[in-house]
Amino acid sequence: MTAPRQNILMCAPDYYDVNYVINPWMQDNCGRIDTKLARQQWDNLRTLLSAHADIALVPPQPGWPDMVFTANAGIVLGKQVVVSHFLARERQGEEPFFHDWFKKDGFEILPWPEDMSFEGAGDALWDRGQPLLWIGSGFRSAATAPSLLQSVFGRPVAHLQLVDPRFYHLDTCLCPLEGGYLMYFPAAFDDAGLLEIESRIPAEKRIIVPEQDALEFACNTVDINKHVFMNMASVDLQSRLKAAGFTPTVTPLSEFMKAGGAAKCLTLKLVEL
Ligand code: ARG
Repeated sequence: MTAPRQNILMCAPDYYDVNYVINPWMQDNCGRIDTKLARQQWDNLRTLLSAHADIALVPPQPGWPDMVFTANAGIVLGKQVVVSHFLARERQGEEPFFHDWFKKDGFEILPWPEDMSFEGAGDALWDRGQPLLWIGSGFRSAATAPSLLQSVFGRPVAHLQLVDPRFYHLDTCLCPLEGGYLMYFPAAFDDAGLLEIESRIPAEKRIIVPEQDALEFACNTVDINKHVFMNMASVDLQSRLKAAGFTPTVTPLSEFMKAGGAAKCLTLKLVEL
C-alpha cells in the first residue's frame, strides 16, 4: 500500500523578522534579517518540498514575525489537532490565526487548558516506526503536557527533558525518521531521557548527531519518502544517513537560524495517521 501524499503547512515570510529575544539564537540578531535572502531561502525550501508533498499556506500576519515557524501551529493526528498555547507573550497572538486556519481546513480542534503551555510539533514528534509521540519539555511546553497528550490522542508518549537552552524545542535536537530511525543530539537530554530513547530505539536505528552538526540544526530535518532536507549536515552525517537509506539535501536557511529555527520548524505535516 502506498502512503497518502503528504500535505505540509507553511507560512510565507512576508512579516518575518527578529525584533524580540525568546531563545539564545535571537540574541544579537534583532534587526539583522536580510529579508530578501530569507525569502529566497524559504522559496528554495518550498520548491524542494513541493516535489514530494502538497504545500498548504496559512496567511502571514503583520506583527507576528515568528509565524513562519508553522511547526509551532499545533500537533495533528488524523483530522484532529491540538492548537499551540505559546509560553511567550510574543507568540501568543499567532494562536487565533492558526486556530482559524485549522478550523477552515476541517480539523476538529481538541480542547486544551488555557494555562498549560504547549508548542505543537516543535515539542511533539510522531515516531515513524511505532505508534509513539516523543514530547520535549523544559523550556517551552509544560511538563504536564505529555500526560494530557497521551489521554487526548490515546497513543503512548515518551517524555524527554530538554537541558540545553540552545535546543529549546524538541525538533531542534531530535528527528524520528522512516523505518524507525531516530536522529538526535544526545547532550540536549538528561540521563533519564537518554535511557528513554535507548529503551525504545535499538542501537542500529540510532543516528547520533555530533555537536557541530547539531549547532547547524541538522536534527531540524524534514523527512518525506526517504528524502531528508536540512540547513546543513557534515559529510560524515550525510554518509550515515545515506547508509540508512535516506537521500539528504542541504538547503541553507541562515536567516531563519537567526531566530532559532530551520527546515523542520518552517513546516508542519498535516497528514499524520
Ligand atoms: N523564534 C521562534 C521561537 O523561539 C523559533 C521557533 C522555531 N520553531 C521550532 N519548531 N523549533 O519560538
